[in-house]
Amino acid sequence: MQIAMIGTGYVGLVSGACIADFGHQVTCVDQDSGKISALNAGEIPIYEPGLDDLVRSNVREGRLSFATVLGAAVKEADAVFIAVGTPSRRGDGHADLSYVYQAAHEIAAALDGYTLIITKSTVPVGTGDEVERIIRELRPDADFAVASNPEFLREGAAIHDFKHPDRIVIGTDDERARKLAGEIYRPLCLNKAPILYVGRRTAELIKYAANAFLATKITFINEIADLCEQVGGDVQDVARGIGLDNRIGPKFLHAGPGFGGSCFPKDVRALIKTAQDYDVPMRILEAVETVNNTRKRAMARKISSAFAGVLRGKAVAVLGLTFKPNTDDMREAPSLPLITALQDMGAKVRVYDPVGMEQARQVLTGVTYCEGAYDCVEDADAAVIVTEWEQLRALDLARVRQLMACPVLVDLRNIYHPEDMKKRGFVYTSVGRAPAHPPVNVHLPRDSDPVLPLL
Ligand SMILES: NC(=O)c1ccc[n+]([C@@H]2O[C@H](COP(=O)([O-])OP(=O)(O)OC[C@H]3O[C@@H](n4cnc5c(N)ncnc54)[C@H](O)[C@@H]3O)[C@@H](O)[C@H]2O)c1
Repeated sequence: MQIAMIGTGYVGLVSGACIADFGHQVTCVDQDSGKISALNAGEIPIYEPGLDDLVRSNVREGRLSFATVLGAAVKEADAVFIAVGTPSRRGDGHADLSYVYQAAHEIAAALDGYTLIITKSTVPVGTGDEVERIIRELRPDADFAVASNPEFLREGAAIHDFKHPDRIVIGTDDERARKLAGEIYRPLCLNKAPILYVGRRTAELIKYAANAFLATKITFINEIADLCEQVGGDVQDVARGIGLDNRIGPKFLHAGPGFGGSCFPKDVRALIKTAQDYDVPMRILEAVETVNNTRKRAMARKISSAFAGVLRGKAVAVLGLTFKPNTDDMREAPSLPLITALQDMGAKVRVYDPVGMEQARQVLTGVTYCEGAYDCVEDADAAVIVTEWEQLRALDLARVRQLMACPVLVDLRNIYHPEDMKKRGFVYTSVGRAPAHPPVNVHLPRDSDPVLPLL
């Protein structure tokens, strides 16, 4: 089949490369000519494990190509995916659908013969109706259908997720469209991926409901973590204790600095807005959003409390900047409000991320960029682990302890063990677990006995 993928960002590029790998002929289109030139030169504009090999092999075998204008690709296509961004609209938090509607206009002009238009972008209920209306108005002669096929891939595991999805959701009432969409994904039936055929509006809602539910799960365990800190519980054990219950499940129960990234924050916001438009209160999600927004900045207090609330002039090393490991995506990363809070308190912030430094430079100012984790912690008064990169899970802790001016380590991902860190001489704080030392005004010279009481 001939496929056009409109939008070659995270979702468009991964989906386009995977669909080409199924054996279809795919053209990925993007209006960003820099991105397309880079791809044509063999460079991958995002960091996603395995994506470079997948793109290169499919380009080499002639199944995947790139273009800046969609005309020729749409004209020849059996199916056209819309995979453009749907960020939060400035000012009101609704999903900004201008890119989707712009793509619909451009697609309409190029349609030739029966074409299935499939919205892969995350879009509010009713967007498919509007895409159909736009195209019908511009091209009353055109033979087309509009379906919804939301994407559930996770950055950092995107290729695996696309090729081994828990389910594929296809939203359309049009029999011909169902058959064609099913045909695109037929290779995945070998992996026994269930295809869920539903109405278009239902498909649109499934995507938001899924993200909103996962965001709620994270926020729930974060609040339980706060309670654990006050009552002396261990949130990891609580998460395990409830996660082993099949009705709950173990995933998305990792307490941390709050959810971020390119999807959850904007999708929670957009679903609340949609519900408001229909006069349906979404009180749980409103609470999720508020709790999560205040949490990221509040994490700075975990660091300042080690210095009796006074961070002015202290050097704080921030390890891990991207919103999660194995991606260079900085969109709504928890590190950003945390760093702003540290700066507001007068701290001198040093930062390091294994992959995200280039993206971070575009959004973070007033910080010192470091070459590596050890460079970052050198002479720091405190270090905070924000993203659980493998590299940060396996730090040489003796070296870290030796390099730091003051051994205050705040682990927002619970990757180290409190008792072990105490033995190694750190003043260690994590999330939802009793601190290994009481939060006190610390000044522990680097050569002092690591087990000295701190008071
Ligand atoms: N990133 C994820 O993990 C993820 C997962 C599931 C769903 N989604 C959803 O998928 C959609 C895309 O997300 P993304 O992260 O890939 O966004 P992105 O910002 O990485 O990519 C969007 C791309 O679309 C291009 N574009 C915009 N208008 C265009 C047009 N008219 N013609 C051609 N190209 C155009 C932009 O230049 C950009 O490269 C969003 O709705 C998002 O919510 C994202």
